[in-house]
Amino acid sequence: MRALIVSDLHSNAEALRAVMSRVRRKRIDEIVCLGDFVGYGAEPNQVLDVMRNIHGKKLYIRGNHDRVAAGLDEAESFNPPARQAALWTRGRLSGPNRHFLRGLPQGPRLHEGVMLCHGSPYDEDEYVFTEHHAAQILALYDAPVILYGHTHLPVVFSIDAHRQVSGVAVRDEKTYRLNRESRYLINPGSVGQPRDRNPAASFAVFDSKRFTVQFFRVAYDIEKTQNAIVKAGLPRILADRLTYGT
Ligand SMILES: [Fe+2]
Repeated sequence: MRALIVSDLHSNAEALRAVMSRVRRKRIDEIVCLGDFVGYGAEPNQVLDVMRNIHGKKLYIRGNHDRVAAGLDEAESFNPPARQAALWTRGRLSGPNRHFLRGLPQGPRLHEGVMLCHGSPYDEDEYVFTEHHAAQILALYDAPVILYGHTHLPVVFSIDAHRQVSGVAVRDEKTYRLNRESRYLINPGSVGQPRDRNPAASFAVFDSKRFTVQFFRVAYDIEKTQNAIVKAGLPRILADRLTYGT
């Protein structure tokens, strides 16, 4: 399996376009999306049209924003700007995109030894930030690789043969050679709303044969995305934060 791993696209069509053009000439067998296709941004239908129609085997799961935008849940736990954007999205989805969003499976999903989840394997709304938390998850699940999103922070946590857990925040572009004796909990970062103070779209390519994960960052037209958010009448902060990657 050589898979493109994306997460937290958040209705940012420009960022998704930049990611797709970066991987155009790479060999990709599968496309994994760890949820939050929509929310925050102003281009939900553009993002969903791309993700629905893309060639290749698709392994998708839903995120918390998808659940609300699909009308499967209310946004009670959301902060006000997130809630406003999720409900705005709900009212603007095309028929096929609403149907697609409603049908997205909830994680965890297991594929060839790789587990996919949005927040954590046992709670799609849970944020995994710390080594301590990663250690709990790596003790509960024995998949060699668990991929997750939700925090919008690219990171590699690992547990080795001596049960030593460590975590590395990924800065910029980097390739990790994984160890077959270890197990991993990996976040590709966010395509549409990075939060590690790097505004470039973040994604990864996982190669199960070579056992490598490559992290990428691509610049995109942030101003265009911001203009669309402001024009849609969505909260200004959702546009502004894209400048800083926060
Ligand atoms: Fe998200």
